[in-house]
Amino acid sequence: MDKLVIIILLLETFLAKPIAGDYNEVTGEYSHKGDNQLSTMPTDIPSAALALDLSSNVITNVDSLPELLHVKSINLRKNLLTEFPDLKNASSSLKRLFLDKNLITRITEDRLSALLL
Ligand SMILES: *[C@@H]1O[C@H](CO)[C@@H](O)[C@H](O)[C@H]1NC(C)=O
Repeated sequence: MDKLVIIILLLETFLAKPIAGDYNEVTGEYSHKGDNQLSTMPTDIPSAALALDLSSNVITNVDSLPELLHVKSINLRKNLLTEFPDLKNASSSLKRLFLDKNLITRITEDRLSALLL
């Protein structure tokens, strides 16, 4: 195999990773879990989602989220978050937030108070 073929094969293994999550329209659950592949927040979260399960990935930060007016539960367990996520856009309906097994060392007041108001 020449170098170009090897490079193309390597690129394919990076580019071929599924980026779309699974959305169950009956339960309203959007999930993208267990594959340790997501390093950033997915961009295809439907605005009608009732629950997000993004556990067991390698997400390092949540600096923005689409507007989610109905989401009740967000599961970000077992990721690589270093900072408390910015969940302002989910704060009106959010009831349960799972953040254990991350690396959070920083919680800013604005991110926390957005959830408490
Ligand atoms: C909130 O949602 C709006 C509209 O989708 C977006 O432009 C904005 O960046 C979001 N903000 C945060 C903090 O997630």
